Amino acid sequence: MKILAIETSCDETAIALVDAKGGVKQPRFKIEKNLVASQIKIHRPFGGVVPNLAKREHLKNLPILFKKLVASGYSLNPDLIAVTVGPGLEPALWTGINFAKELHKKLKIKILGVNHLEGHLYSPKLEGNKNLDFPAIALIISGGHTILLNVKNMASWKKIGETVDDAVGECYDKTARLLNLPYPGGPEIEKLAKDGDPNTIQFPRPMIHQKNYDFSFSGLKTSVLYFFRENKNEEFVKKYKLSKKPEKISKADIAASFQQAVFDVLTIKTLRAVKEIKAKSLIIGGGVAANRSLQKAFKKKIKKENLKLNLFIPSPKFCTDNAAIIAAAGYISFLKNKKMALKAQANLNL
Ligand code: KG4
Ligand code: ZN
Repeated sequence: MKILAIETSCDETAIALVDAKGGVKQPRFKIEKNLVASQIKIHRPFGGVVPNLAKREHLKNLPILFKKLVASGYSLNPDLIAVTVGPGLEPALWTGINFAKELHKKLKIKILGVNHLEGHLYSPKLEGNKNLDFPAIALIISGGHTILLNVKNMASWKKIGETVDDAVGECYDKTARLLNLPYPGGPEIEKLAKDGDPNTIQFPRPMIHQKNYDFSFSGLKTSVLYFFRENKNEEFVKKYKLSKKPEKISKADIAASFQQAVFDVLTIKTLRAVKEIKAKSLIIGGGVAANRSLQKAFKKKIKKENLKLNLFIPSPKFCTDNAAIIAAAGYISFLKNKKMALKAQANLNL
Protein backbone atom coordinates (compact mmCIF):
# COMPACT_ATOMS: atom_id res chain seq x y z
CA MET A 1 0.00 0.00 0.00
CA LYS A 2 1.05 3.58 -0.67
CA ILE A 3 1.47 5.82 2.36
CA LEU A 4 1.74 9.58 2.41
CA ALA A 5 3.42 10.53 5.69
CA ILE A 6 3.66 13.88 7.43
CA GLU A 7 6.01 14.77 10.30
CA THR A 8 6.16 18.10 12.18
CA SER A 9 6.86 17.11 15.79
CA CYS A 10 9.94 19.28 16.28
CA ASP A 11 12.13 21.34 13.95
CA GLU A 12 11.97 19.32 10.73
CA THR A 13 9.05 19.67 8.35
CA ALA A 14 8.85 16.39 6.47
CA ILE A 15 6.66 14.68 3.88
CA ALA A 16 7.28 11.24 2.41
CA LEU A 17 5.64 8.86 -0.02
CA VAL A 18 6.40 5.23 0.76
CA ASP A 19 5.25 1.96 -0.75
CA ALA A 20 4.79 -0.64 2.01
CA LYS A 21 4.19 -4.36 1.70
CA GLY A 22 5.00 -7.69 3.33
CA GLY A 23 2.77 -7.60 6.41
CA VAL A 24 3.51 -7.04 10.08
CA LYS A 25 6.15 -9.76 10.42
CA GLN A 26 8.33 -8.88 7.47
CA PRO A 27 7.44 -5.42 6.29
CA ARG A 28 9.23 -4.05 3.26
CA PHE A 29 9.38 -0.44 2.25
CA LYS A 30 10.18 1.36 -0.96
CA ILE A 31 10.73 5.03 -0.44
CA GLU A 32 9.45 6.99 -3.42
CA LYS A 33 10.13 10.42 -1.98
CA ASN A 34 11.47 11.61 1.38
CA LEU A 35 11.44 15.40 1.68
CA VAL A 36 12.78 17.25 4.72
CA ALA A 37 12.95 21.01 5.30
CA SER A 38 15.24 21.66 8.24
CA GLN A 39 14.70 24.68 10.48
CA ILE A 40 18.09 24.47 12.20
CA LYS A 41 19.24 27.85 10.90
CA ILE A 42 16.08 29.56 12.24
CA HIS A 43 16.45 28.17 15.77
CA ARG A 44 20.24 28.34 16.00
CA PRO A 45 20.44 31.95 17.26
CA PHE A 46 18.18 30.93 20.19
CA GLY A 47 20.30 27.91 21.15
CA GLY A 48 17.32 25.53 20.86
CA VAL A 49 13.92 25.01 19.25
CA VAL A 50 11.42 27.86 19.77
CA PRO A 51 7.94 26.23 19.54
CA ASN A 52 6.13 29.16 17.94
CA LEU A 53 8.86 29.69 15.38
CA ALA A 54 8.71 25.97 14.60
CA LYS A 55 4.95 26.29 14.06
CA ARG A 56 5.40 29.29 11.74
CA GLU A 57 8.04 27.44 9.68
CA HIS A 58 5.96 24.25 9.44
CA LEU A 59 2.98 26.27 8.20
CA LYS A 60 5.20 27.82 5.57
CA ASN A 61 7.05 24.64 4.56
CA LEU A 62 4.25 22.05 4.44
CA PRO A 63 2.60 23.40 1.26
CA ILE A 64 6.02 23.92 -0.34
CA LEU A 65 7.06 20.31 0.29
CA PHE A 66 3.68 19.02 -0.83
CA LYS A 67 3.92 20.96 -4.08
CA LYS A 68 7.41 19.58 -4.60
CA LEU A 69 6.10 16.06 -4.13
CA VAL A 70 3.31 16.56 -6.64
CA ALA A 71 5.68 18.28 -9.09
CA SER A 72 8.10 15.35 -8.98
CA GLY A 73 5.54 13.34 -10.92
CA TYR A 74 4.27 10.86 -8.34
CA SER A 75 0.62 10.07 -8.80
CA LEU A 76 -0.99 11.16 -5.59
CA ASN A 77 -3.31 8.30 -4.92
CA PRO A 78 -2.03 6.96 -1.61
CA ASP A 79 -4.05 4.42 0.36
CA LEU A 80 -3.30 6.06 3.67
CA ILE A 81 -2.20 9.35 5.19
CA ALA A 82 -0.01 8.82 8.27
CA VAL A 83 0.68 11.80 10.50
CA THR A 84 2.70 12.21 13.70
CA VAL A 85 0.40 13.00 16.64
CA GLY A 86 3.10 12.92 19.35
CA PRO A 87 5.32 13.14 21.23
CA GLY A 88 6.64 16.59 20.34
CA LEU A 89 5.95 20.29 20.58
CA GLU A 90 2.22 20.86 20.70
CA PRO A 91 1.99 23.86 18.30
CA ALA A 92 4.30 22.09 15.86
CA LEU A 93 2.34 18.82 16.01
CA TRP A 94 -0.95 20.59 15.27
CA THR A 95 0.37 22.03 12.01
CA GLY A 96 1.02 18.56 10.60
CA ILE A 97 -2.23 17.13 11.96
CA ASN A 98 -4.32 19.96 10.48
CA PHE A 99 -2.52 19.71 7.14
CA ALA A 100 -3.14 15.94 7.07
CA LYS A 101 -6.80 16.38 7.98
CA GLU A 102 -7.30 18.82 5.11
CA LEU A 103 -5.70 16.38 2.67
CA HIS A 104 -7.87 13.60 4.07
CA LYS A 105 -10.99 15.68 3.34
CA LYS A 106 -9.84 16.82 -0.07
CA LEU A 107 -8.47 13.50 -1.36
CA LYS A 108 -10.95 11.25 0.53
CA ILE A 109 -8.11 9.07 1.84
CA LYS A 110 -7.95 7.22 5.16
CA ILE A 111 -5.95 9.02 7.84
CA LEU A 112 -4.05 7.53 10.78
CA GLY A 113 -2.24 9.13 13.73
CA VAL A 114 1.27 7.82 14.40
CA ASN A 115 3.52 7.72 17.45
CA HIS A 116 6.80 9.37 16.41
CA LEU A 117 8.80 7.02 18.67
CA GLU A 118 7.48 4.01 16.75
CA GLY A 119 8.95 5.67 13.67
CA HIS A 120 12.40 5.61 15.26
CA LEU A 121 11.84 1.99 16.32
CA TYR A 122 11.02 0.85 12.76
CA SER A 123 13.55 3.09 11.03
CA PRO A 124 16.16 0.36 10.35
CA LYS A 125 13.55 -1.49 8.25
CA LEU A 126 13.52 1.30 5.68
CA GLU A 127 16.85 0.22 4.23
CA GLY A 128 17.47 -3.15 2.68
CA ASN A 129 15.31 -6.15 3.27
CA LYS A 130 17.42 -7.89 5.85
CA ASN A 131 15.22 -9.73 8.27
CA LEU A 132 15.41 -8.82 11.89
CA ASP A 133 15.75 -11.85 14.14
CA PHE A 134 13.86 -11.76 17.41
CA PRO A 135 13.90 -11.26 20.30
CA ALA A 136 15.60 -7.92 19.90
CA ILE A 137 16.56 -5.02 22.09
CA ALA A 138 15.84 -1.53 20.78
CA LEU A 139 17.54 1.60 22.05
CA ILE A 140 15.86 4.85 21.06
CA ILE A 141 18.07 7.86 21.63
CA SER A 142 16.76 11.22 20.48
CA GLY A 143 16.42 14.82 21.57
CA GLY A 144 13.48 14.02 23.83
CA HIS A 145 13.82 10.33 24.67
CA THR A 146 16.13 7.58 25.86
CA ILE A 147 14.26 4.30 25.89
CA LEU A 148 15.16 0.60 26.02
CA LEU A 149 12.67 -1.88 24.62
CA ASN A 150 12.44 -5.64 24.68
CA VAL A 151 11.09 -6.32 21.19
CA LYS A 152 9.28 -9.65 20.71
CA ASN A 153 8.49 -9.04 17.06
CA MET A 154 7.82 -6.10 14.77
CA ALA A 155 4.45 -5.47 16.33
CA SER A 156 4.97 -6.20 19.98
CA TRP A 157 7.41 -4.82 22.51
CA LYS A 158 7.78 -3.92 26.17
CA LYS A 159 9.56 -0.93 27.59
CA ILE A 160 12.21 -2.06 30.06
CA GLY A 161 13.91 1.24 30.82
CA GLU A 162 14.10 4.94 30.07
CA THR A 163 15.72 8.12 31.28
CA VAL A 164 14.58 9.42 34.64
CA ASP A 165 15.54 12.99 33.70
CA ASP A 166 17.21 14.38 30.54
CA ALA A 167 17.33 12.50 27.24
CA VAL A 168 20.75 11.77 25.71
CA GLY A 169 20.20 14.22 22.84
CA GLU A 170 19.12 16.89 25.31
CA CYS A 171 22.27 16.24 27.34
CA TYR A 172 24.35 16.64 24.16
CA ASP A 173 22.57 19.91 23.32
CA LYS A 174 22.92 21.37 26.83
CA THR A 175 26.57 20.36 27.12
CA ALA A 176 27.26 21.86 23.70
CA ARG A 177 25.87 25.16 24.96
CA LEU A 178 28.33 25.03 27.88
CA LEU A 179 31.09 24.56 25.32
CA ASN A 180 29.79 27.51 23.28
CA LEU A 181 28.86 25.26 20.38
CA PRO A 182 25.79 25.97 18.22
CA TYR A 183 22.48 24.08 18.21
CA PRO A 184 21.99 21.17 17.62
CA GLY A 185 24.89 20.18 19.84
CA GLY A 186 25.13 16.48 19.04
CA PRO A 187 26.93 16.70 15.68
CA GLU A 188 29.07 19.61 16.97
CA ILE A 189 30.32 17.68 20.01
CA GLU A 190 30.98 14.63 17.85
CA LYS A 191 33.07 16.73 15.45
CA LEU A 192 35.02 18.49 18.19
CA ALA A 193 35.66 15.25 20.10
CA LYS A 194 37.63 13.83 17.15
CA ASP A 195 40.59 16.02 18.20
CA GLY A 196 40.33 15.14 21.88
CA ASP A 197 41.40 12.33 24.19
CA PRO A 198 38.36 10.53 25.67
CA ASN A 199 40.38 9.40 28.70
CA THR A 200 41.31 12.90 29.88
CA ILE A 201 38.48 13.46 32.36
CA GLN A 202 36.44 10.86 34.23
CA PHE A 203 32.98 12.39 34.15
CA PRO A 204 30.31 10.47 36.13
CA ARG A 205 28.54 7.50 34.54
CA PRO A 206 25.15 7.86 36.25
CA MET A 207 23.23 4.68 37.18
CA ILE A 208 25.72 2.53 35.28
CA HIS A 209 25.94 -0.08 38.05
CA GLN A 210 22.26 -0.14 38.91
CA LYS A 211 20.54 -3.37 37.97
CA ASN A 212 17.59 -1.64 36.29
CA TYR A 213 17.59 -0.39 32.70
CA ASP A 214 16.90 3.24 33.47
CA PHE A 215 19.22 6.10 32.60
CA SER A 216 20.03 9.51 34.02
CA PHE A 217 21.85 12.19 32.05
CA SER A 218 21.18 15.49 33.81
CA GLY A 219 24.06 14.95 36.28
CA LEU A 220 26.54 14.48 33.45
CA LYS A 221 25.73 17.88 31.98
CA THR A 222 25.98 19.45 35.48
CA SER A 223 29.33 17.79 35.98
CA VAL A 224 30.64 19.45 32.80
CA LEU A 225 29.35 22.78 34.15
CA TYR A 226 31.14 22.27 37.50
CA PHE A 227 34.27 21.20 35.69
CA PHE A 228 34.54 24.74 34.31
CA ARG A 229 33.68 26.44 37.60
CA GLU A 230 35.72 24.51 40.14
CA ASN A 231 39.13 25.54 41.43
CA LYS A 232 41.74 23.73 39.46
CA ASN A 233 43.57 22.44 42.56
CA GLU A 234 44.90 19.01 43.51
CA GLU A 235 41.53 17.82 44.73
CA PHE A 236 40.10 18.70 41.33
CA VAL A 237 42.75 16.62 39.56
CA LYS A 238 41.92 13.66 41.82
CA LYS A 239 38.15 14.05 41.56
CA TYR A 240 38.12 13.83 37.77
CA LYS A 241 41.13 11.48 37.59
CA LEU A 242 42.70 13.85 35.08
CA SER A 243 45.24 12.31 32.74
CA LYS A 244 46.88 15.67 32.08
CA LYS A 245 47.42 19.00 33.79
CA PRO A 246 44.22 21.11 33.94
CA GLU A 247 45.79 23.89 31.87
CA LYS A 248 46.62 21.39 29.11
CA ILE A 249 43.02 20.22 28.74
CA SER A 250 41.35 21.40 25.54
CA LYS A 251 37.69 21.84 24.68
CA ALA A 252 38.11 18.82 22.41
CA ASP A 253 39.30 16.74 25.42
CA ILE A 254 36.17 17.77 27.32
CA ALA A 255 33.93 16.86 24.37
CA ALA A 256 35.68 13.49 23.92
CA SER A 257 35.54 12.69 27.66
CA PHE A 258 31.86 13.68 27.77
CA GLN A 259 31.10 11.36 24.84
CA GLN A 260 33.02 8.52 26.47
CA ALA A 261 30.84 8.79 29.59
CA VAL A 262 27.69 8.69 27.40
CA PHE A 263 28.97 5.72 25.38
CA ASP A 264 29.95 3.77 28.51
CA VAL A 265 26.50 4.16 30.05
CA LEU A 266 24.62 3.36 26.85
CA THR A 267 26.72 0.38 25.78
CA ILE A 268 26.97 -1.25 29.21
CA LYS A 269 23.27 -0.98 30.05
CA THR A 270 22.04 -1.89 26.56
CA LEU A 271 24.31 -4.91 26.19
CA ARG A 272 23.37 -6.10 29.67
CA ALA A 273 19.75 -6.13 28.46
CA VAL A 274 20.84 -7.93 25.27
CA LYS A 275 22.48 -10.67 27.34
CA GLU A 276 19.58 -10.98 29.74
CA ILE A 277 16.94 -11.61 27.09
CA LYS A 278 19.39 -13.41 24.77
CA ALA A 279 18.60 -10.95 22.03
CA LYS A 280 19.52 -11.84 18.46
CA SER A 281 19.31 -8.27 17.18
CA LEU A 282 19.99 -4.81 18.49
CA ILE A 283 18.15 -1.84 16.95
CA ILE A 284 19.43 1.66 17.62
CA GLY A 285 17.37 4.60 16.35
CA GLY A 286 16.85 8.34 16.89
CA GLY A 287 19.01 11.38 16.19
CA VAL A 288 21.86 10.43 18.52
CA ALA A 289 22.22 7.07 16.71
CA ALA A 290 23.68 9.09 13.81
CA ASN A 291 26.83 9.54 15.90
CA ARG A 292 29.56 7.45 14.20
CA SER A 293 31.71 7.33 17.32
CA LEU A 294 28.78 5.91 19.27
CA GLN A 295 28.22 3.32 16.54
CA LYS A 296 31.89 2.36 16.75
CA ALA A 297 31.68 2.11 20.56
CA PHE A 298 28.79 -0.36 20.24
CA LYS A 299 30.55 -2.42 17.55
CA LYS A 300 33.73 -2.56 19.62
CA LYS A 301 31.94 -3.70 22.77
CA ILE A 302 29.83 -6.29 20.93
CA LYS A 303 33.04 -7.73 19.49
CA LYS A 304 34.89 -7.60 22.81
CA GLU A 305 32.07 -9.43 24.56
CA ASN A 306 31.83 -11.97 21.75
CA LEU A 307 28.12 -11.44 21.33
CA LYS A 308 26.31 -13.00 18.38
CA LEU A 309 24.20 -10.03 17.61
CA ASN A 310 22.95 -8.35 14.46
CA LEU A 311 23.23 -4.61 14.82
CA PHE A 312 20.67 -2.45 13.01
CA ILE A 313 21.41 1.26 12.87
CA PRO A 314 19.85 3.31 10.06
CA SER A 315 21.95 5.66 7.98
CA PRO A 316 22.04 9.22 9.40
CA LYS A 317 19.16 10.57 7.30
CA PHE A 318 16.85 7.94 8.82
CA CYS A 319 18.20 8.46 12.36
CA THR A 320 17.17 12.09 12.55
CA ASP A 321 13.56 13.13 12.06
CA ASN A 322 11.94 12.47 8.67
CA ALA A 323 8.56 11.33 7.38
CA ALA A 324 9.62 7.96 5.89
CA ILE A 325 9.93 6.57 9.44
CA ILE A 326 6.38 7.82 10.10
CA ALA A 327 5.16 5.96 7.02
CA ALA A 328 6.82 2.78 8.33
CA ALA A 329 5.15 3.17 11.72
CA GLY A 330 1.87 4.08 9.99
CA TYR A 331 1.97 0.82 8.01
CA ILE A 332 2.41 -1.33 11.14
CA SER A 333 -0.26 0.67 13.04
CA PHE A 334 -2.65 0.21 10.12
CA LEU A 335 -2.08 -3.55 10.05
CA LYS A 336 -2.50 -3.78 13.83
CA ASN A 337 -5.66 -1.69 13.55
CA LYS A 338 -4.17 0.69 16.10
CA LYS A 339 -6.07 3.95 16.20
CA MET A 340 -4.95 7.14 17.87
CA ALA A 341 -6.85 10.36 18.39
CA LEU A 342 -6.04 12.92 15.71
CA LYS A 343 -4.90 15.59 18.13
CA ALA A 344 -1.52 16.76 19.39
CA GLN A 345 -0.28 14.46 22.18
CA ALA A 346 2.86 16.23 23.33
CA ASN A 347 3.77 13.68 26.02
CA LEU A 348 2.95 10.47 24.18
CA ASN A 349 5.29 7.62 25.11
CA LEU A 350 5.79 4.02 24.05
O1 KG4 B 1 15.47 12.08 16.53
P1 KG4 B 1 15.79 13.51 16.45
O2 KG4 B 1 16.12 14.10 15.10
O3 KG4 B 1 14.60 14.38 17.03
C1 KG4 B 1 13.88 13.96 18.14
O4 KG4 B 1 12.98 13.12 17.96
O5 KG4 B 1 14.22 14.44 19.24
O6 KG4 B 1 16.99 13.80 17.46
C2 KG4 B 1 17.54 15.07 17.63
C3 KG4 B 1 18.68 14.96 18.63
C4 KG4 B 1 19.31 16.30 19.00
O7 KG4 B 1 19.43 16.37 20.41
C5 KG4 B 1 20.67 16.25 18.34
O8 KG4 B 1 21.68 16.98 19.03
C6 KG4 B 1 20.97 14.77 18.37
O9 KG4 B 1 19.73 14.16 18.08
N1 KG4 B 1 21.95 14.38 17.35
C7 KG4 B 1 23.15 13.86 17.67
C8 KG4 B 1 23.85 13.70 16.45
N2 KG4 B 1 23.04 14.10 15.42
C9 KG4 B 1 21.86 14.51 16.01
N3 KG4 B 1 23.70 13.56 18.85
C10 KG4 B 1 24.96 13.08 18.86
N4 KG4 B 1 25.70 12.91 17.74
C11 KG4 B 1 25.18 13.19 16.51
N5 KG4 B 1 25.92 13.01 15.42
ZN1 ZN C 1 12.69 11.99 16.50
